[in-house]
Amino acid sequence: MTAPVLETRDLSINFGGLRAVDQVSFTVERNRITTVIGPNGAGKSTLFNLISGALRPRNGQVLIEGVDCTGRPPYRMQAAGLARSFQITNLFDELTVAENLRLAAQILEPVSMAWRPVRASGVAQARVDELLERFGLADKARYIVGELSHGEQRRLEVAVALACKPKVLLLDEPTQGMSHGDTRDTAELIKTLAADVTVLLIEHDIGLVMSLSDHVIVMHQGQKLAEGTPADVRANKAVQTAYFGHT
Ligand SMILES: Nc1ncnc2c1ncn2[C@@H]1O[C@H](COP(=O)(O)OP(=O)(O)O)[C@@H](O)[C@H]1O
Ligand SMILES: [Mg+2]
Repeated sequence: MTAPVLETRDLSINFGGLRAVDQVSFTVERNRITTVIGPNGAGKSTLFNLISGALRPRNGQVLIEGVDCTGRPPYRMQAAGLARSFQITNLFDELTVAENLRLAAQILEPVSMAWRPVRASGVAQARVDELLERFGLADKARYIVGELSHGEQRRLEVAVALACKPKVLLLDEPTQGMSHGDTRDTAELIKTLAADVTVLLIEHDIGLVMSLSDHVIVMHQGQKLAEGTPADVRANKAVQTAYFGHT
């Protein structure tokens, strides 16, 4: 039996007296879209910070393909196959679209090329071209990030996170602040990503969650309240009370 691509076991962290993430365990299946939902302050972003190595858990473990990676710093999590985009934008505003992608793809270069000027090799550049095409940004390649629309910036963020060919992609509210049209386009894009990367998503647009997700994990006050198919969690009484606001 092969290990799940990502697994958390009893993952916990406190901020002072607050149990921001409290003994959260789940597994993520390969090439599926798993979505974490929950009210504001439920601990979703903190959970991602624990998984990506931005925060060190007080308790519990993070396993990538069965390897215990708990407490590794973000660059080592990335080396193990994890990439993320942030709820707050994480692009170099004064660089072009292509330059942002190029920096992120640089890790694909063979070590023997590491001392050469950035333009010297082909592997990373090929990845940049592929992503520009796939994300519909080819005609914006030479634009400065600041010249892009909000929707294009968010799309570029996802492309930047994918540049290093991760096994697991963590996306924290990729549609935040987007227009309805951009949200729909982004959902379509995320769907196509699942063919070659496992997606772990935080999303607040419940319609999108229901249509996009293979598996849904519901967080509430730092804990995992429920998980299952979109239909399962929607039918769950505790979830309806805590999240959908029904009584
Ligand atoms: N670095 C931090 N220091 C102290 N409290 C934090 C920190 N990060 C998050 N929190 C608190 O932890 C709780 C969970 O936050 P967060 O993970 O951002 O929730 P969500 O992403 O589900 O909205 C919130 O009460 C938040 O105020
Ligand atoms: Mg958040």
